Amino acid sequence: MARKALIAANWKMYKTPAEAKAFVDAFLPLVAGHTRDEIALFPSPVLLPTVVEAAKGSNVAVGAQNIHFAEEGAYTGETSIGQLKAVGGTHTLIGHSERRQYFAETDEIVNKKLLAALKHGVVPIVCVGEVLEERESGNTANVLKTQVTGAFADITPEMAKPIVIAYEPVWAIGTGKTATPEMAAEAHRMIRAEVAKLLGAEIAEGMRILYGGSVKPDNATALIGQEEIDGALVGGASLKPDSFEKIVKY
Ligand code: 13P
Repeated sequence: MARKALIAANWKMYKTPAEAKAFVDAFLPLVAGHTRDEIALFPSPVLLPTVVEAAKGSNVAVGAQNIHFAEEGAYTGETSIGQLKAVGGTHTLIGHSERRQYFAETDEIVNKKLLAALKHGVVPIVCVGEVLEERESGNTANVLKTQVTGAFADITPEMAKPIVIAYEPVWAIGTGKTATPEMAAEAHRMIRAEVAKLLGAEIAEGMRILYGGSVKPDNATALIGQEEIDGALVGGASLKPDSFEKIVKY
């Protein structure tokens, strides 16, 4: 089964509204007519209305870097899925390693967010990945298994179709150290095998697994060219239109 690649830009806590608009205005003409892959931008919440408006009617989707699992409530600083949808966001990252590391997100929270996103028809990109110590001690497979199993609690095969996974080895994020295409493909196979155990072979076969961690224009082809790798989640190299364009056109 052919999986359509998704190339996603995680802008993290960068850009003002003016800078975000300038990016989209410059970027859209570069990827106009590009239908081979899906493209999505993940700006900070405060930039969402600007980016959605600028990308309206284009082949570029817009999503949040994080959402809360509650419908609404007294959760200072958080964004609900309803709020995301109301401004035109269609996707969300869930459980990015920076959320796990700096904001204490657990697999249980990731699971609640995943259930909430699916309930409201927002495309979830669930991020998993091991830290350096876990890789060096030979624990990568265990960590990925725990994260996938935890994230997918109470997820049924019927619900699972929209889910996208992003494998982001934490030691490769923002460090310039990339997993080799073979290392990434091996981790993707482990993740897919885990999904197959939980949700069956058909769902696992159709699920897109993106790679993230120091993806750049010069390594994108080798990474995304791997049969197991169904796109990329790009941080630093997604901040400039021409650099992200090159990755989209790997
Ligand atoms: P870099 O591409 O900057 O390593 O970031 C990866 C990432 O965390 C994307 O979510």
